[in-house]
Amino acid sequence: MDVVILAAGKSTRMKSKTSKVLHKILGKPILSYVVELAEEVEAEKTIVVIAPGSDEIPSLYGDRLLYATQWEQKGTGDALKAATEHLTAKTTLVLYGDAPFLRRESLHDFIDFHQGKDLSILSVCQENPRDYGRIVRGNKGVEAIIEEKDCSPEQRKITEINSGILLMDTELMKENLQKLTISNAQGEYYLTDLVELFSSQGKIVDAFVLDNPEETAGINDRSQLAQGTEVLQRRVVEKHLKEGVSIIDPRRVYIEADVKIAQDVEIWPDTYLLGNTIIEEGVYLGPGVHLEDCHIMKGALLEHTRGIKALVGPGTQVGPFAYLRAGSRIGAGCRIGDFVEIKNSTIGDGTKVSHLSYVGDADLGKNINVGCGTIFVNYDGVNKHRSTVGDEVFIGCNSNLISPVEIGERAFIAAGTTVDRDVPENALSIGRVRSEIKLDWNKVKK
Ligand code: UD1
Ligand code: CA
Repeated sequence: MDVVILAAGKSTRMKSKTSKVLHKILGKPILSYVVELAEEVEAEKTIVVIAPGSDEIPSLYGDRLLYATQWEQKGTGDALKAATEHLTAKTTLVLYGDAPFLRRESLHDFIDFHQGKDLSILSVCQENPRDYGRIVRGNKGVEAIIEEKDCSPEQRKITEINSGILLMDTELMKENLQKLTISNAQGEYYLTDLVELFSSQGKIVDAFVLDNPEETAGINDRSQLAQGTEVLQRRVVEKHLKEGVSIIDPRRVYIEADVKIAQDVEIWPDTYLLGNTIIEEGVYLGPGVHLEDCHIMKGALLEHTRGIKALVGPGTQVGPFAYLRAGSRIGAGCRIGDFVEIKNSTIGDGTKVSHLSYVGDADLGKNINVGCGTIFVNYDGVNKHRSTVGDEVFIGCNSNLISPVEIGERAFIAAGTTVDRDVPENALSIGRVRSEIKLDWNKVKK
């Protein structure tokens, strides 16, 4: 089977500089959902029909798809024509680039239904069929699809509508595409006119009625885009619940389509999981966790935490109010506490950075204690520098480490020290102003 995805329409209602099909739902372009459907049916070829100047689409999908340009937007029939030179398989499936909701199971049912037919339409009954093409059934099965604007008052009452998704014999399709005319209300080449042509030639045409209109909806404007997020989010949440993830309040999480979550993970409200985030078994997230492209390993616990491209090791606790920036690699059994920011740094197993610290561009070993208020001074105003801290080092509170410095294993940094040179292993580094005591100072002052 070959698949053609029509995506050359003007999409004026979206009011956007970006092509409609590249607007995202749950972190993924609308078109990607359709492309995944094509991959699901293991199409021999998938051709997407694009408008001139839609270069973003080929640059995003590369070799995953073939591309055909529809030079002028003269209707869906004309769009399909633009793809025909690529089509070689016996059957062609037509999908719309702006319709991301069809479930895999429904598509497979539709393909089974098509057995022994020349043209099959995926239809659905809608209480309010406005704007859709109506399915006209007669003695010979489906005899035509009539667009709303071309309907007689009688036809307008038909509630069975064309989803736009079609399966047909490729050779017959190619032959009949040549016969389309623009003698209709919109002056366009209607793909749907193929139905009448096939039917009048005695070919077998039928429609498979899907019972859920949600699956065939298209996205034309921002309001439908927002509804789309709701629909697909519900499905994503449902899938995770089925697979053994606890979600305390499903209405108060945002989980993007490609996020992977293992079983026995517990997710508390106001948690956002984005991009290619991976959550391993037994992790406890939230409330208020916001992760993008992060990998959280077994049994970790995060609350009120923001993470971007960070790795958190097994059993590690993070938060509340921690910020793990790109390149943070936290080991096993660590503790990253409140108001701690980690950037582009490795934190060894068992190390604790419990409060109010900045660790930037540093490699920390195992079982280190980083005292409250420690700053890795990684930036001199021009360049960033890297520091290393050996295993079992103790860093006292309110220390500054002026990078680049190297602190040897088991060294001890006294509280309040500004470390401006390397510290050998087992050594004490102390550098602070001695305090003075002035007796009765307050009395004398008066
Ligand atoms: C189309 C169908 C209608 C169906 C409805 C379902 C026709 C004539 N009508 O109507 O029966 O009920 O979809 O949503 O087919 N496109 C192009 N090039 C064009 C025009 C459109 O590539 O010149 C693409 C669009 O990007 C879109 C798809 O074809 O993905 C459908 O186009 P649209 O204009 O939305 O068709 P409708 O009028 O909604
Ligand atoms: Ca449409």
